[in-house]
Amino acid sequence: MVTFPTLRPRRLRKNKLIRDLVAETNLTASGLIQPIFIKENINEPEKIDSMPGVYRYPPNDHLIKFVEEVYSFGVKNFILFGIPSFKDEFASSAYDKNGIIQKSLRLLRQTFGEKILLITDECTDEYTSHGHCGIITQKDGKLCVNNDESLKVHALIAVSQAEAGADIIAPSSMMDGVVGAIRKALDEAGFTDTAIMSYSVKYASTFYSPFRDAAYSKPAFGDRRGYQMDPRNAFEALKEASLDIEEGADILMVKPAHTYLDVIRLVKTTFPQYPLAAYHVSGEYSMIKAAALNGWIDEKTAVLEITTAIKRAGADLIITYYAKDIANWIKEGV
Ligand code: PBG
Repeated sequence: MVTFPTLRPRRLRKNKLIRDLVAETNLTASGLIQPIFIKENINEPEKIDSMPGVYRYPPNDHLIKFVEEVYSFGVKNFILFGIPSFKDEFASSAYDKNGIIQKSLRLLRQTFGEKILLITDECTDEYTSHGHCGIITQKDGKLCVNNDESLKVHALIAVSQAEAGADIIAPSSMMDGVVGAIRKALDEAGFTDTAIMSYSVKYASTFYSPFRDAAYSKPAFGDRRGYQMDPRNAFEALKEASLDIEEGADILMVKPAHTYLDVIRLVKTTFPQYPLAAYHVSGEYSMIKAAALNGWIDEKTAVLEITTAIKRAGADLIITYYAKDIANWIKEGV
């Protein structure tokens, strides 16, 4: 008897067990990084209007409780963003020994020891009065972000974060040479074991808007297109990634994630020997959240599908505001 068709891909989709058996991509809690906003001079967690479900935490028991909760679901990696009460032109509160991030790093290290991995976003935008990712000077009568002056400040911030206990420094300014400047400063200060996760491929994206509400870091004038990448370019990502590799980056990153899956694949296949992180950013989070709150999509299914897509594209690590929820869903058995 001749039957047709003989080749039936549906055999491997028959039930959950067989689908799980042949799945090419699996989410794991160990590859997730939870971002946390920590704000100076508050006592209670604060809601962020544009990011329902995400809070600004004070560096006290509330922060510890949140980290404990995330940890209990299996996420052990955290990236910290500081919201200082003092800003100036030079981001001096970013490298203050008693700055918000430095205090928080010491508190978390004291409380959790080596049980958690602490990553710090290294930038000036939350700490400067002008909100840019570097130092502003005049050039030909125009204000501009001075690359080489900025490197000096980024080096100070990185060393001060390492001194306070960061395991990994994550420079996000997109200044040319920032990875090299930070590596040199860390090494000279004796922090040869502090790793660098570079925001190597960071696009000038509108999807950072909710973050800028959360961290009060919207630039006071101009925008970031003079330093962040142009969304029209994919191959330029390879130039940025290779420079960071030459300068000593340990982990590369593409950001945003969901909107740039092609770039994730390109960077991973070109540099498979480097761990690749992808940042599912605030706007990408808020879009899902808003649709879910309206009842237009199922939140869990949407988040798992998108996060799996980011991993399938080639990301090894995923920074996501959904880290805690994803880990919880994994635990329950997705
Ligand atoms: C810069 C920084 C930003 C984000 C992470 N690090 C903001 C920016 O570049 O404007 C955005 C992250 C997000 O949108 O979730 N310190």
